[in-house]
Amino acid sequence: MNAEVFDMIDNENRFPEKFLWGGAISSSQSEGNANREPSIYDFMPVGNKRTEWFLNGKYNSEEAFYPNREGIHFYQTYKEDIQLFAKMGFKAFRISIAWSRIYPNGEEEIPNPEGLAFYEDVIDELLKYNIEPIITILHYDLPIHLVEKYNGFESRKVVDLYVKFASTLFEHFASKVKYWMTINEINIVKYCPLDAGVKILRKNKEEQIFQISHHLFLASAKAVIEYKKHHYDGKIGMMLGYEPIYPYTCLPEDVLMSEIRENEILFYSDVQILGYYPQYMLNYFKEKKINIKKSNDDDEILKQGKVDYIAISYYSSATCSSDSSISQKRGNITYSVKNPYLKETEWGWQLDPIGLRTSLIRLENRYHLPILIAECGLGIKEEFKQEMIEDDYRIEFFDSHLKEVKKALNYGVNVMGFLAWSPIDMPSAATGEIEKRYGFIYVDANNQGMGSYKRYKKKSFDWFKNVIETNGKNI
Ligand code: BG6
Repeated sequence: MNAEVFDMIDNENRFPEKFLWGGAISSSQSEGNANREPSIYDFMPVGNKRTEWFLNGKYNSEEAFYPNREGIHFYQTYKEDIQLFAKMGFKAFRISIAWSRIYPNGEEEIPNPEGLAFYEDVIDELLKYNIEPIITILHYDLPIHLVEKYNGFESRKVVDLYVKFASTLFEHFASKVKYWMTINEINIVKYCPLDAGVKILRKNKEEQIFQISHHLFLASAKAVIEYKKHHYDGKIGMMLGYEPIYPYTCLPEDVLMSEIRENEILFYSDVQILGYYPQYMLNYFKEKKINIKKSNDDDEILKQGKVDYIAISYYSSATCSSDSSISQKRGNITYSVKNPYLKETEWGWQLDPIGLRTSLIRLENRYHLPILIAECGLGIKEEFKQEMIEDDYRIEFFDSHLKEVKKALNYGVNVMGFLAWSPIDMPSAATGEIEKRYGFIYVDANNQGMGSYKRYKKKSFDWFKNVIETNGKNI
């Protein structure tokens, strides 16, 4: 069997008829903070200083500008923005729900009707254009109160509060929303515990991170159980930040290391898909004397709370070497040495379209579950000079990645859809910079929050519209 066979049969259109073409955004990066209490993402200054500032207790600086407090004003502009997505022909659109709009400090007894009404309107607006709403229950933005009082998901109490939040969303929206995912990039906690609301780090950081991971697994599983209990007509999945790990060379030590590094990521999907802790991780805990506090029924919860599908974000692959003298740096998710065959963006993310096909094949082989590409995109600096942005590089990025998706479909992977991150410029999750632009639509704002916030189509807007219109025939 050779891979070229699967390259050759792609002249046929293999994108399924009901392929979920569209885009994805998050509440914290788009809506701005109007009418809600603060979330942890409101304390993301421009640059990469958030973790340092949190650890020093200086995160609420008077002088700093916090771009997520503005977002792109989606709270006010959602109708116009959705109209633009509809013009592109979106079949699906992924949003997340700001926890602090529904339960402002996370602990109230009763949900906030105004917050529910806002999302009801957003969902209705999407449905008006036959766009399938896809909801991420939590995309990093814990109410700051839960961070301050409980140290986020370090506390089991936050698991219960999350489940209450999720149940409220199901109760109100499950009749209209068919696709859910529990926690965005659940594995990011390994590299950035702040994304799980954890600002106080213990001496034994590794044990702490696995304890938090356990709470995230429970939160996700309990939400799945709650969802299934009501027999809602829909699917609930998990979301993994995925970077396939390559060995730097074919030295057996490098290959072995890449397998182990791959498991560091896939541990998070293993638990949520298989419903139990894999043996390799139990052995690791034993070896490292890592003691996870569990309640008696936790194993049963994980078993009952298995997900229906896997959603991934994909931005690049990562490469590892057993030679520790070769330096590594972080991409979106994990650390990587420089892969000499790949170009990288200004932010050092290595571009690898084939890596997307590799990812899809690996996940298919391991789980045999439908896969949703819930995020994929190119963040780049762009200048707007009152004329169309000719973003041929973005067209080339999506064209090359979608070609690989098509080949993965030809190979037999069950890909449910492709959601571009992000169809409209928004502040970066990692650095707060809106000038790291991803959109088919330009938003006139800079890193200091100056600008009209008006929207302008880029060249890629019509290109992506055509891709959707022809169901990928032009790919
Ligand atoms: C994913 C996140 O990690 O990557 C998104 O789910 C994020 O929220 C995206 O925006 C791109 O990362 P960044 O830092 O370039 O915005």
